[in-house]
Formats: sequence, structure tokens, C-alpha cells
Amino acid sequence: MKTPDKKLWSGRFSSNPTTQTISFSHSIEADTRLIKYDIWGSQVHAIMLERQGIISEHDLREILHWLGKVEDDYQSGNFILDINKEDVHMNVESYLIENAGREFGGKLHTARSRNDQVLVDAHLYIREEILNVQRGISSLCDAFLNIAKLHVSTVMPGYTHTQHAQPISLAFWATAYVSMFLRDQKRLLAAYKLTNTNPLGACALAGTSFPIDRQLTTELLGFDSPHEHALDVISSRDFIAETLFALSMVMANLSRLSEEIVYWTTFEFSMAVLDDAYSSGSSIMPQKKNPDIAELTRGRTGRVYGALMDLLTNLKGLPLGYNRDFQEDKPPLWEAFDIVNDCLEILPHLIESTEFKTERMAELVNANFATATELANYLVKEHQISFRESHEIVGWLVGELVKQNLTFSDWDHTHTLLKQKEVDISISKLQNILDPAFALENNQSLGGTSPKEVCRMIDRFQIQLDDFNKIIYTNQIKIEDAHKMTVHEIDKIFNK
Ligand code: ARG
Repeated sequence: MKTPDKKLWSGRFSSNPTTQTISFSHSIEADTRLIKYDIWGSQVHAIMLERQGIISEHDLREILHWLGKVEDDYQSGNFILDINKEDVHMNVESYLIENAGREFGGKLHTARSRNDQVLVDAHLYIREEILNVQRGISSLCDAFLNIAKLHVSTVMPGYTHTQHAQPISLAFWATAYVSMFLRDQKRLLAAYKLTNTNPLGACALAGTSFPIDRQLTTELLGFDSPHEHALDVISSRDFIAETLFALSMVMANLSRLSEEIVYWTTFEFSMAVLDDAYSSGSSIMPQKKNPDIAELTRGRTGRVYGALMDLLTNLKGLPLGYNRDFQEDKPPLWEAFDIVNDCLEILPHLIESTEFKTERMAELVNANFATATELANYLVKEHQISFRESHEIVGWLVGELVKQNLTFSDWDHTHTLLKQKEVDISISKLQNILDPAFALENNQSLGGTSPKEVCRMIDRFQIQLDDFNKIIYTNQIKIEDAHKMTVHEIDKIFNK
């Protein structure tokens, strides 16, 4: 290992850290994702320092010139973070000092600490990642809404305890996922709002005696507001915890979806067939077609939960102020974003390309008394008996049919058995009541299965999704505009 360079904070020290200390402490891998944000944050900080008369215009020009160069070098692969400089912040600052000299580069860190700087970088990076996740959720919702629009009358069994419960439609199933994922959008938006506040200017923990302008940096970085309390902001990682919880919940939901994909595609269920392009085979069993994407999604969920646990555990013992433990917040969060984004990129394609076996669904929903509740409801409505009594009669009927290995569709038996309980319903009426489509149609309560209600929910969810898409777009544009504004300010300095 090469001999470490002189540290930027070497003044107080009589010896350099050992190579072991350096390799134990650096955060270079995680920080690589932060370079462009660190540069943006530094540009904005320097512009503000000059506006406030803390550095001269000449200083600013030099600083911005070399920040531009480090950005170019980074884009062209010539600026690579060095572990001897510990982290992204000291790498960028060292580049400036090495190239512009201490008299200029050494001024950038006035009224700033790595403690607020690392938070600026993290806030800037995380908000963009949240927007990526939100876009992924929206495409998944699109995929489910497309299925829903085609299948409001496609009957299938609805399950409780993984046992046939009542008829639902494929659209009702699909819109349940939309309803669920819209809540993920809400949680992600809440995490976005917590994240989109400006830590810059909190400095080490106490603010500063320099006359900084935190509103200006807030505007140029596209934050909604400054995070005011300096000590609180330096100590806070709850925006990451919120984000990780939102990501964990997304994974819980994706994992439940995956579970359904896994068993719907079994021979036993045969309710769905995956496109070959989104399935895998076996190295030994030639006949196999496996739902690996769903299984891997399910299998990666724990890593995202782990990231949340990791962060919460990190936080629980920390006193106020910056603690180096905070450095450990990033790798698990990065991994969580990668996992969630990977899953959200592939799952909409998988869902869109899946073939739903509607005949099989109809066969199953007719085979196992899924309309029993509707018959019980009918007896309450038309035969003036209490629900408990009608439940008893229909339960008894099902028990008798099961004993004889029959179903409701053995109409004569169903009719005769009911008569034994003094319930006389004609066969044609029975055929009507016990038709899954009728049960579907009949559940017209708010949020129920009737095609009319499902169509209403499809429209409503579509509107909600469009609203989220508008917010995602507006937030994205706000970030881009802020960056353009920064570039414009930089151009103004150079064109003076
Ligand atoms: N690499 C550090 C982190 O990720 C940056 C801040 C370092 N601050 C300090 N006082 N050592 O948290």
C-alpha cells in the first residue's frame, strides 16, 4: 500500500494513520455514488460564500473552475476516489487544494463540516432514488390496471386461509394490488418529503459565526426548506429509517405477489402461465419451468428488512451530534435501493407477459362451494330467517354434498337436500344464485366485487396514480431546475 498522503486535518497529529487504520475507516465504495452530489453541494456552498462576502469573487472563480474540472475528470473516469483520503468529501477537497492551491481550494470548507456535507450528499442521492422507486411502482400499477380493465367479469376463487372462500374477479384481485401499491406511493412520498430538506449550514453541529445564507443553498439544491436545527439535523438519520421502512413495505408487498405467482403457476393451481422469457429451467429435469424471478424477489426481501434493522440498531445508542457509526448507514441503504429497483424493473414485464388461465379459474370457482355465502344471504333476504340459521342450513347442505362427493352443480341433490330443511328453491333459481358471476355481481357494497364497483375503483385508482405521477414528475423537474439554476449561476460568474 502506498504511503498515505498528508491528511487535510493533519495539523494536530504528529503521525499519520496506519494503512490498517485507513483501510478500516474509509467509505470509498459507498461514497462513489455521491461524487456528483458532493460536487453540486460544493458549488452551491461556494456560490453562497461569495454572495455573502465570505470569500472573494476571485476565490469563487478558482473554486468553481476546479470543481468543474473534477466533475469532468469524474465523468471521463479520471477522477477515482482514493481510500487514503478517507471519503468523497476529502477526495474532492484535496483535488481542489492540489490543483487550485491552498489559498483558493482551502477556502471551500469555510462554514461547512463534513457532518453537514455528508448529509447533503445523502439527501440529494436518496431523493432521486426514491423517485426511481416511485416510477417503478407506477409501472407495476399500470400492469395491474391493464389486467383489471380486461377482466372485471372473469371469475376466480377468492381465498382465505388459502382455501376457497368466495368468488372474486381477476380484476378485483389485480386492483387489490393497485390499492396496496398506491399506499407504497404514499409512504415513499412521505419519505421523500422528510428527505427533501436542506442540512447544509448546520456545519459540525452548532451552525456558524459566518453570515451564511441557508435559504440560498436550499433554493439552489432544490430542497423544500432548510432543516433548521443544526444539532438535530446533524444527529438525524430518521429520513433514512423512513425510506427503509417504505422500501421494506414495498418488498413485503412484492414478496406476497411473488408468493401468489409461485403457486398460481404450479400444476395444481394452473391459474397462470409465465412467459418463457421470464422463467427458468432445470439443469437436470428437462420438463421444469420455474418461477425464479418471483422466488428471487421473495428471497431478497429479507436483505431490505435487514437494512432497516441495521439502521435502527445503529441509531439506538447514539448520543446527539455526529458519530462515525453514521457512516455505516449507506451500504445497506444502497443495497436496499438496488434490490427494490431491480425487482420493480422486471416485475411489470413479468406481470404483463403472464397468461392468466381464465377457464381454469372458472373451473375452480365452481368446484368447491365458493358461492355458499351467497346462498346463505339469499335465504336471509327471501326466506326471512336469521343469518345464523341460514348459515347452519347451507353448512349442513355443503356437509351432505361433500359426504356424497357432490357439488352444488348436482342440482337435483342440492334442490332435494334443501327441501329437507323446508327451503324450496327451484333448480333454475338455484342455478342463478349459485352462479359465481351472480355472486360477483351481487356484492355491490363499497369496495366489493361487482363489476360496476370494480370499474369505479379502476377509475379512481387511475386518477390517484396519475396524481402520484404528476407529483413524481414535479419533484423530478424541481431537482433538474435547481441544478440548471446552479449551472446558470456558475455561467454568470465566468461570463462576468
Ligand atoms: N464518511 C463519513 C460518513 O459517511 C463522512 C463524515 C465524516 N465526518 C467526520 N466527522 N468524521 O459519515
